[in-house]
Amino acid sequence: MEPNRAGLSAALSAAVGWLESGGSALDAVESAVMRMEDDPTFNAGQGSVRRADGSVEMDAAIMDGTDLSIGAVCVVRDVRNPVRIARELLDARETLIAGENAAQLAPTRSPAVGPTALAGGDTVGCVALDTAGRIAVAVSTGGLTHARPGRIGDTPLPGCGFYADSFVGGVAATGVGESISRTLLAARTIVALEASQPPQAAVEAALLHLARVGGDAGLIAMDRTGQIGWSHTGDQFAVGWARGPSPILHVEIAGVEDTHG
Ligand code: GLY
Repeated sequence: MEPNRAGLSAALSAAVGWLESGGSALDAVESAVMRMEDDPTFNAGQGSVRRADGSVEMDAAIMDGTDLSIGAVCVVRDVRNPVRIARELLDARETLIAGENAAQLAPTRSPAVGPTALAGGDTVGCVALDTAGRIAVAVSTGGLTHARPGRIGDTPLPGCGFYADSFVGGVAATGVGESISRTLLAARTIVALEASQPPQAAVEAALLHLARVGGDAGLIAMDRTGQIGWSHTGDQFAVGWARGPSPILHVEIAGVEDTHG
C-alpha cells in the first residue's frame, strides 16, 4: 500500500494546487487523475493492465456537475492520459462518449502506455468541490486483466462509474465494471445524496446492491457541502482526501482500489 499512499498524495497535491490557486474543480480532478495515470502503481494510463491478447485499452471520463457536461472515452490505445482526451471532448461539447478514434483529438497523443500494473491496481477516481461551489469528477482505468479486447466496463458510463451534480454531490466507482453497471452504483449514490443522506450512508447503501450480482466494488462520494464518504466490498481500498482553507468549500477526495483488475 505504500506506493498507493505516495501516488494518492501526489494526486491530492496536484488537485489542491489547482484549487488553492483559484482553479476549477474540473481542473483539479483532471490533474489528480492524470497524476495517477502517470503512476504505474494504479491501473490507469501507464499502469494499465493487459487484455487477453496482450493489448492495452483504456477508458476514462470527466464530468462537470455545474452544467452536467461529460466527456468520456472507451478502449483508447497508445495514449498517455486518457482523461485528458475526455476533458477535450467535454470542452468541445461534440460527443458524450467516444470510442477508439477519440484519441485522434488529443494533442498529447503518445507516448504509448508503459508496463503492466505493478500490483494489480484498479480504476482511479477523484471528486472535487471548488470555492465557487462547483463539483466535478474524473475516472480512468485500464479495465480488467485478461478481458477481451473491446470490452468496456463502468468507467466511461455516467450513472455507473461516475456522476457529478453541483446541486447534489459527486461519486466515482472502482471495481468490477459489469457489476457496477448492472447495479447503477453511481446513480444510486447520487439519488441518495439528493435525498439528503450523508455520503457515507449513501455509498454503503449503494454497495449492498452488489449482493444481487456478485463482484466487488468501491465508491468515493462527496456532497455539495463537502462531506465525504467511501466504502468498498474488497479487501483493500486506497483513498485520500484533503480540505482547503474554507471549512465548507474547497474539498477534494481521490481513491483507488487495489485488489481487482
Ligand atoms: N472498473 C473498471 C472496469 O471494470 O473496467
